[in-house]
Amino acid sequence: MNPNANVHAKVKPRDALGRMTPYSPGKPIWEVQREYGLDRVAKLASNENPLGPSPKALEAIRRMLPELHRYPDVRATILARTLADRLGLSEANVVLSNGGDEMITLLSEAYLEPGDEVVVPVPTFSEYAFGALLMNASVKKVPLAEGFAYDADALLAAVTDKTKIVYICTPNNPTGTYMPESEMRRLLDGLPDRVLLVVDSAYAHFATAPDYADGMAFVREGYPVAVLQTFSKIYGLAGIRVGYAAAPEPIVRSLLQVKEPFNVNALAQAAAAAALTDDEHLEASRIANERAKSRLYEGLRALSIPYTKSESNFVLAELGEKADSIYRELLARGVIVRSGQGWELPNHARISIGTVEEIEWLLRELGSIVQSS
Ligand SMILES: Cc1ncc(COP(=O)(O)O)c(C=O)c1O
Repeated sequence: MNPNANVHAKVKPRDALGRMTPYSPGKPIWEVQREYGLDRVAKLASNENPLGPSPKALEAIRRMLPELHRYPDVRATILARTLADRLGLSEANVVLSNGGDEMITLLSEAYLEPGDEVVVPVPTFSEYAFGALLMNASVKKVPLAEGFAYDADALLAAVTDKTKIVYICTPNNPTGTYMPESEMRRLLDGLPDRVLLVVDSAYAHFATAPDYADGMAFVREGYPVAVLQTFSKIYGLAGIRVGYAAAPEPIVRSLLQVKEPFNVNALAQAAAAAALTDDEHLEASRIANERAKSRLYEGLRALSIPYTKSESNFVLAELGEKADSIYRELLARGVIVRSGQGWELPNHARISIGTVEEIEWLLRELGSIVQSS
């Protein structure tokens, strides 16, 4: 008997699922190794920390192992308290999630009714649209301005009576551009107070521009803002899944209502709390990112490949009409970058900042591909 026979025809999934495109992740290392028979692969496709996790986080995980028969703390109290202290907020302003992705789903579940609208800049992180479509809300896309710059007026112009959430991602994935603090204030002051502004500052720790804002100051000022962050990027804990939102207390209460009780596992809670205390790892990661990013800029300039200056740990490069074949050729040579196709940027690729050695390798392969084509 075939267990799949006729099931699809009879048990109908929600219509919303038919409108959703699945998330397209960076290709995993093992898959590229197997597909191309390679020993060595550089994964520059998912904006991970090439230095790895904080040693303090690893030690905390080891200490927690004998306690794995216990359920995790529902409220992730120690982690929430540590975060709140660092952010100058109260524990009641912080809610943890199973990665930043889950927080986007929680925000969508807590706030979106069918027919509501969310405003998203494009190109940006795909999960904002995913959350909206999941809830039968609709997505209003607002193109970024010249040079992928944010334009508060364009976002404000897209707001209607049905708008419930406006998303900004800063530094923006995949462009690396950011919304300056004064522009964010202008946006907030222009938004009706029934609209929630979600500031996704997953890459905040990499930003160095003096007028960069991660959005936390606006939470402290009491604006209807939820700031989303993650332990997957500079903290190097993508594999264990921890993210969070900082927001005024009523927003946190709504998010707590929709989250599953044990959404953040015990190892993740311990690892993230320990990582927060590891200033040395944080600083080393920032310095390594700046060094390797400078090397990438220099190499791209030498190859006459235009790129957008990035406040983050990835760079959007314009490879031109042959971008897709260059992307594939890089893969075959063991260098995984992210094709721009998923963002409707067919001439671009997003390159994550790996170690200097990985960036050198990428540049060598890119140089040889570009020169031979
Ligand atoms: C802008 C942005 N926000 C949120 C996330 C979610 O990260 P995670 O679910 O790993 O915490 C990502 C991951 O790539 C991202 O790029």
